[in-house]
Amino acid sequence: MVVTEIPINLRPVGEDDLEMLRRFVTEPGLIGLDWNGFQDAQGVAKRYADDGFLGEADGRLIVEAAGRTAGFVSYTEGVYAGRGRFWEIGIALLPDSRGRGIGWRAQAMLCDYLFAHSPAQRIQAGTHAENLAEQRSLVKAGFQLEGIIRSCEFRDGAWRDGHLYSRLRSDPSPL
Ligand SMILES: CC(C)(COP(=O)(O)OP(=O)(O)OC[C@H]1O[C@@H](n2cnc3c(N)ncnc32)[C@H](O)[C@@H]1OP(=O)(O)O)[C@@H](O)C(=O)NCCC(=O)NCCS
Repeated sequence: MVVTEIPINLRPVGEDDLEMLRRFVTEPGLIGLDWNGFQDAQGVAKRYADDGFLGEADGRLIVEAAGRTAGFVSYTEGVYAGRGRFWEIGIALLPDSRGRGIGWRAQAMLCDYLFAHSPAQRIQAGTHAENLAEQRSLVKAGFQLEGIIRSCEFRDGAWRDGHLYSRLRSDPSPL
C-alpha cells in the first residue's frame, strides 16, 4: 500500500490556538499519560501575552498537518553540568491526528529546528513504558534509548519509571 506523506509544518502559536492549548490543561486524558490533573486554563493566555510561547529557556510550536492544526511540540532548556545546555522536547497531538505519521516527523523537525537555531549538542525526551507510540516515534525521529529512569515521576497515583531517549547533533536526521 502506498501511503502519501501528509505535509507538516511547525509554526508559532497564534491567538486562534489558545482554545486548543486550554483543552490540554482542562480535559482529563486528552494529553494521554502525561495528564497531571487540572491546571489554570488562564495560564495559556497569560503565557501567550508574555512571549507568545517563544521564551529563551522554553517554548512551544504548533504542529500543522495538511494546513490543519494537529497539536503542539514543546522544548525546555536543561543543564547537567557547567554551561552546556540541552533541550528536552515534548509533543501532544489531538486524537484525530495520531497514528498518521505526524508525531515522529514533527519531533524530527523540531530537533532540526533546535539544532539550527541553538548551539545545543543534545536533545532528550522522556516517555513511559506504556507509550509505545511515543517510543516508536522517538526512534523514527532519530533518537536512541539511553535507559530507564527508575521511579522518576508521580502520575496516576503511583511513582513510575521513565524511558529516556536522546538525539545528538552528530546523529543523522531522518528527514
Ligand atoms: C505519542 C504521539 C506523539 C505519537 O505520534 P503519532 O503521530 O501518533 O505516531 P506516528 O504516526 O508518527 O507513528 C510513529 C510510529 O509509532 C507507531 N505507533 C503509532 N501509534 C501507535 C500505537 N498506539 N501503538 C503502537 N505503535 C504505534 C507507528 O506505527 C509508527 O511506527 P512504524 O512506522 O514502525 O509503524 C501521539 O500519538 C500523541 O500525541 N499522543 C498523545 C500525547 C503523548 O503521548 N505525547 C507523548 C508524551 S511522552
